[in-house]
Amino acid sequence: MPTLVHLSDLHFGPHHHAHLDEIVLRDIATLNPDAVIVSGDLTMRARHREFAQARDFLARISKPILTIPGNHDQPILTPRDWVERLTRQYARYRRYIHPAIDTTLETSGLFILGLNDNHPILPGGFWTRTQRAWLDAQLARAPRDAVKVIVTHHQLVWNGWRPAGFWDAERTLEWLAARGVALVLNGHTHIADAVQTAQGIIVARAGTATSGRTRRHDGNAYNLITLDTHNIYVQVRRYDASANAFIAGKTLVFTRHTPR
Ligand SMILES: [Fe+2]
Ligand SMILES: [Fe+2]
Repeated sequence: MPTLVHLSDLHFGPHHHAHLDEIVLRDIATLNPDAVIVSGDLTMRARHREFAQARDFLARISKPILTIPGNHDQPILTPRDWVERLTRQYARYRRYIHPAIDTTLETSGLFILGLNDNHPILPGGFWTRTQRAWLDAQLARAPRDAVKVIVTHHQLVWNGWRPAGFWDAERTLEWLAARGVALVLNGHTHIADAVQTAQGIIVARAGTATSGRTRRHDGNAYNLITLDTHNIYVQVRRYDASANAFIAGKTLVFTRHTPR
């Protein structure tokens, strides 16, 4: 059964809990997933040293990794940063994390596509027309029986919760469902959850694995996702301070969407 460890919002920099890095790395070695997904916000303020720490963390994972940038991975602090943000938005991400922004990963019957969804000025997530064309082309070449998975930073199910989610999420979910996408992975809110939408797509959101900026007393968490022929299981693993470990919490079970 294919398994994924889904991390998000690592936020190296202020409020980062370095001791959780070690536990997460140990867990990955123990859980032995087919791949590790990191759905954006690797840094807090897109500083060079924060990216260097994120790079060093990822280098210690001996599994296939797919990452995308989050809104915090764009420079913002100084006027010079702003010029860089408007002209070379992901120069630091490309230098430290991955040379490509939108990427694919094929493993164990999964066809996974990671898409950046940040706007340099406006909050919330969106994909450009060029990205949608790229997504179309990629999905068209996916093996017929592969499970199609999309990774993007802003939440596609958000019910008006702040911070802002993916723009025009409902239409985007329709668009993805028409292309046979079964699973969407998000981060950004720092609140773990998973639901199956009216379109049949399972949208799973990971909390923040290692940042102290937790929300609604949710604490630190990451998701362990397992797929079999009929179902997708999303296990939320929450950090328990007394055990100093991530403990298996609720496991949500969904019936897999049948591609149209
Ligand atoms: Fe975040
Ligand atoms: Fe974010």
